[in-house]
Amino acid sequence: MTKNTPSSSQIHLNILTFLLFTLPFHGNTQNNNPNQEQTILLSLKQHWSNPPSLSHWTPSSDHCTWPEITCTDGSITRLEIINGSITETIPPSICDLNNLTYIDLQWNYIPGFFPTVLYNCSKLEYLDLSTNYFIGAIPDDINRLSSRLRYLNLGVNNFTGDIPPAIGSLPSLTSLQLVTNLFNGSFPPEIGNLSNLEELVLSYNAFAPQSIPSSFGNLTKLRNFWMTEANLIGEIPDAIGNMSALEYLDLSVNQLSGSIPDGLFLLNNLTFLFLYKNSLSGFIPRRVEALKLQVLDLSNNTLTGTIPEDFGNLTSLTGLALFFNQLSGEVPVSLGTLPQLVDIVLYTNNLSGQLPPDFGRNSPLKTFQISANQFVGELPKHLCANKVLRGVIAFENKLTGEIPDSLGDCNSLEIVRVDDNRFSGKIPDGLWTSVNLIRLMLSGNLFAGQLPDKIGPQLALLELMHNKFSGPIPAGISSWERLTVFRASNNSLSGVIPQELTALPLLSTLSLDGNQLSGHLPSDIISWRSLTTLDLSRNQLSGEIPAAFGLLPDLLYLDLSRNAFSGQIPPEIGLLRLSSLNLSSNRLSGRIPVEQAFVSFHCCGLKFSCSGFSSGRPIYNIFEEKLQKAKARKDSTWKLTSFQRLNFTERNILSSLIDDNQIGKGGSGRVYRVPINHRSGEYVAVKQIWDDVNENSKLLVYEYMENRSLDRWLHGKKRPHSISGSVHHVVLDWPKRLHIAIGAAHGLCYMHHHCSPPIVHRDVKSSNILLDSEFNAKIADFGLARMLVKHGEPNTMSVVAGSFGYMAPEYAQTRRVNEKIDVYSFGVVLLELITGREAHNGDETSSVVEWTWRHVQEGKPIDDALDEDIKEPLYLEEINTVLKLGLICTSTLPSNRPAMNDVLQILLRCSQRPTSEEKTNRNEYDVAPLLHNSKSDRSSESDDSVFSSV
Ligand SMILES: *[C@@H]1O[C@H](CO)[C@@H](O)[C@H](O)[C@H]1NC(C)=O
Ligand SMILES: *[C@@H]1O[C@H](CO)[C@@H](O)[C@H](O)[C@H]1NC(C)=O
Ligand SMILES: *[C@@H]1O[C@H](CO)[C@@H](O)[C@H](O)[C@H]1NC(C)=O
Ligand SMILES: *[C@@H]1O[C@H](CO)[C@@H](O)[C@H](O)[C@H]1NC(C)=O
Repeated sequence: MTKNTPSSSQIHLNILTFLLFTLPFHGNTQNNNPNQEQTILLSLKQHWSNPPSLSHWTPSSDHCTWPEITCTDGSITRLEIINGSITETIPPSICDLNNLTYIDLQWNYIPGFFPTVLYNCSKLEYLDLSTNYFIGAIPDDINRLSSRLRYLNLGVNNFTGDIPPAIGSLPSLTSLQLVTNLFNGSFPPEIGNLSNLEELVLSYNAFAPQSIPSSFGNLTKLRNFWMTEANLIGEIPDAIGNMSALEYLDLSVNQLSGSIPDGLFLLNNLTFLFLYKNSLSGFIPRRVEALKLQVLDLSNNTLTGTIPEDFGNLTSLTGLALFFNQLSGEVPVSLGTLPQLVDIVLYTNNLSGQLPPDFGRNSPLKTFQISANQFVGELPKHLCANKVLRGVIAFENKLTGEIPDSLGDCNSLEIVRVDDNRFSGKIPDGLWTSVNLIRLMLSGNLFAGQLPDKIGPQLALLELMHNKFSGPIPAGISSWERLTVFRASNNSLSGVIPQELTALPLLSTLSLDGNQLSGHLPSDIISWRSLTTLDLSRNQLSGEIPAAFGLLPDLLYLDLSRNAFSGQIPPEIGLLRLSSLNLSSNRLSGRIPVEQAFVSFHCCGLKFSCSGFSSGRPIYNIFEEKLQKAKARKDSTWKLTSFQRLNFTERNILSSLIDDNQIGKGGSGRVYRVPINHRSGEYVAVKQIWDDVNENSKLLVYEYMENRSLDRWLHGKKRPHSISGSVHHVVLDWPKRLHIAIGAAHGLCYMHHHCSPPIVHRDVKSSNILLDSEFNAKIADFGLARMLVKHGEPNTMSVVAGSFGYMAPEYAQTRRVNEKIDVYSFGVVLLELITGREAHNGDETSSVVEWTWRHVQEGKPIDDALDEDIKEPLYLEEINTVLKLGLICTSTLPSNRPAMNDVLQILLRCSQRPTSEEKTNRNEYDVAPLLHNSKSDRSSESDDSVFSSV
């Protein structure tokens, strides 16, 4: 889930800032009546309701001295009011300043349609209206602007519709910028007529799908062509090879297909080329004469063939990103000799052979990412020759030999991932202690030797699983202070678990299973208070389990099985709120009383019960089953956890998992609608989690919910009017949404507060909230993540189960789990219900959480954030309250998020709508105390503004 390409996105950003050039301007020299011009300016000021930014515009001063004004020979030629809080239209009188050549009004709030009054500014050469509130289409007669116009920037407005062909009739244009508008029609081939154009920026517009017109090839002076995220389809025209002046080309994140035109790589001045995230296929052009190329990003396409030998001639190249393609063959040896190379990112291809030995020797290499390929041989020895290397990501290859000694003398390193290769030998001493190293992942190799006494002061994650490390756990381990995850399963570590190992206050995961550790457990483990996962299984540990183990507040996963522990199980263990406990294959005795649950320890794992279930109404009645279709039939077990009497058998279900019954298919498996009683027409929904590899599959059985899942109602191009097939139009209005929120909150509240031990769902999202015919909400996929954890393979724990956009930040980063991660996800659902926006749009920066926080922090009206279907003044107050609740639930710090039962109470209070009389008495629901407790951790200085503006 984490994006492992920071370097390439950094590249894009840097280049953008670098390239935001403005064109030079030379004013003309003429005269005008000064007093008359001042009068015009003062009337402008008045028209704009005297904005404070223009308070110095007074008759008593010479207007040519005002910073916004430039005079040439006493006459006004330039007007620049940037960020001046102008909120009114541009009046016709502006063109009475008849020597004006330059108007820059960017970053204001100018409303309305394109100001055709500017057609009368006959000498206009430069017009910047970017970042305003303009709407509507660009007029069809836009070419009535001065024929001298060289610079036109209408970016970051709300212009819609088509870009008219007339734009191609502004003959002097050198720069045309229309970035980030709401254009939803076409852009004209006539842009190709702008023969003086040097800069064309059309990015971030949802144009109707359209290909690049070949007429653009006529733009032979174009230096900067930026059209990312603009719905481009079809092939890149060969004519692009005629754009001989091209320096910067960014067509990334479109749906371009076909192969890369040969001509593109022959453009001598091409310096930056971004074509990532398209559907480009075929070979990369062999002949490369674009020798000025500095950054080349072709990642995330379906390119095949080999990396061209000619890349070795790109002596200016600093960044090369080819990841996520289907490239094969060897990496040309000459790439290792490139003198400027900083970032090379080749992961997830089919590349093979040996790596060029000279990588890093000749250039200031910072990133080296070659994971998930078929490379053999050794890691290049000189990666850190220039002492700036920050990351080596080489996992999942077939690399052999030792880790080069030079990596032990590389203080710039932050991450080293060489897991799942065939490396052997010892880890260089200096690598263990590298001062900036944060993550060191060595698992799945043949490394040997002892654990070091000291590690680097920043090291937070150390994974050594499945190697041949041996010897004792060193006493010096108490100095491994920053460590949060330490996994050393399946090695040959021996000796006792030293008391010193308990002195790591940040440790959240400790896996030492499958070693030869012996002796007693340390009894003083008080500083392990951050521990969530402890796996010491498959060792030779003995003695009693210290009672202190029952006092670890965050522990969720405890596996002490297959050791030689003896004596009574300390009753304190029963106080833990574990999601998995395994004490089997020891010599323990006794049973653990757990409030109203019980834990059985001699068999396997954990059972739980939920208090009050039989007396209260079944708040949610999802039930689950797990089917293990093990190879050996004898092992085949059904493990049944059900909250309802089941009126069907497994045979009912298994015989119905056929294509005809399939109703959905997702990343994790298929969903079937299975009849369980033909006469009464009852159905269940069955989700099959596939796992073809080891022939294990799990079946989750749910109540079949008429209205499917919430996400289908909130998102998608066409929202269903009624999914169940009836004809009437159903809108998800606010009362329905609140009802759904309450239903879902009930379910989570129940899991968190009424079950012992509590159950953390871990995958709360709108697609897991199912709706019946009355829009009663039920939480689905219950327990899926818990089950995954229960299997306890290191791999499943190393995978963060959960969904992008819904995942609490601390969970994604540390995999630490408690109820607050569900609260976060639930907060995301609340924000979805209110804004109608999807939880994520593919990356973190466009998540509904970030978007809403930003919206509120910028003090924008709440109305603007609401989904169209709920913009009803009647409910605004309620929606406001729930919005605040959603924000608090998505606080970055878990401790700032309310508990689920508080969340439910607030929602319930919202649903008990006060009469209008009551309303006048209290215009705020009772969220205030909550809000005050939770100092926003997002940006401390804007905390107050967040809530005062809500
Ligand atoms: C511009 O469009 C955005 C996105 O659709 C919308 O939120 C905003 O209110 C619009 N602003 C104006 C002034 O129309
Ligand atoms: C411009 O491009 C079009 C289409 O590629 C072509 O037919 C036309 O001749 C070109 N015009 C000039 C002036 O090059
Ligand atoms: C390429 O760049 C050089 C240097 O900026 C410039 O002189 C030359 O005219 C450019 N070539 C083209 C075809 O524009
Ligand atoms: C590749 O592009 C797809 C579609 O835009 C995106 O979902 C995916 O995350 C990208 N993968 C990588 C590794 O960038």
